[in-house]
Amino acid sequence: MAGTTSVVVLSGGISHERDVSLRSGRRVVDALSRLGWRVSTAEPDAKLLPLLLERRPDVVWPALHGASGEDGSLRALLDVSGLPYIGSRGPAARLAWDKPTAKRLVEVAGGATPASVTLTREVFREIGARSAIDTILGSMTDGLVVKPARGGSAQGVTVVDTAEQLPRALMDAFTYADEALIEQRVVGTEIAVGVLDGDDGPAALPAVEIVPRSGFYGFEERYTAGETRFYTPARLDPAVAAAAGELAVLAHRAMGLRHLSRADLIVDASGRPWFLESNVMPGLTETSLLPQAILSTGRDLSSAYAAITERALAEA
Ligand SMILES: Nc1ncnc2c1ncn2[C@@H]1O[C@H](COP(=O)(O)OP(=O)(O)O)[C@@H](O)[C@H]1O
Ligand SMILES: [Mg+2]
Repeated sequence: MAGTTSVVVLSGGISHERDVSLRSGRRVVDALSRLGWRVSTAEPDAKLLPLLLERRPDVVWPALHGASGEDGSLRALLDVSGLPYIGSRGPAARLAWDKPTAKRLVEVAGGATPASVTLTREVFREIGARSAIDTILGSMTDGLVVKPARGGSAQGVTVVDTAEQLPRALMDAFTYADEALIEQRVVGTEIAVGVLDGDDGPAALPAVEIVPRSGFYGFEERYTAGETRFYTPARLDPAVAAAAGELAVLAHRAMGLRHLSRADLIVDASGRPWFLESNVMPGLTETSLLPQAILSTGRDLSSAYAAITERALAEA
């Protein structure tokens, strides 16, 4: 098929992860062009669907992060257009994009995820902020994390240490989404575990350990060089690393994810991994988490990205 396979890589978009997406897209283009495939790029704008329908590439690679690429809507359009693409299908991406839903599916499948309450803005207003906050604080005491139910890049996420911080944290979360997820804080080692579909089903890559200088893996810590140190593989006991891999695969299966995903987990002091979320299109640049894990296995990104594409082509 080499020389004839045509791929359109989608990158850019209007999310705050536009720059990362452009870099992810370039990396994918680079990897696939080396195989002699016809690779072009497109932005997710008003011209996209007419262009794809006219060109009908063999496969589309949506290297888009954040809402437009990960919330499932663009993927749903690709589904109805009958265009093969890389990554999770629309309905599955939608489940992963909604953090409370993803947590529930993982829990039902037997995985651990921090206790949480999800509040809509309406209920917060109707019930009264004060009584909602008092009720939450009455049952969840040891430190909380408040975040938008849907979103990324730690935007609108606050670690709440004292009761006084909770109202502000909720307001911050509500500026990004209509629902806020109030989650029990897990103190421990933050890791990201990539999952790739293989012939024997989904398999976990080595965990990447994330050590932000500030102690919180926020927006700056993600996109400013030197703010975060990474260890690949994570400095974990082998049994703990294996449990983390199992949890990431469990999440991938529980949501019906496809081809690739990356679970964000925290390992607590007792060595138990807790599920925070799964990302259906994680960063794909050399310095991104999933690629670091691929590189740590001795594999190069070009062959890994080609293998993912071959899988999608074989399914088409
Ligand atoms: N329950 C939690 N306990 C401790 N830290 C958390 C918790 N939830 C989130 N965090 C921190 O906030 C960051 C962002 O949360 P996450 O759920 O991964 O959302 P996103 O990456 O989509 O913004 C995580 O990388 C982690 O550092
Ligand atoms: Mg995350």
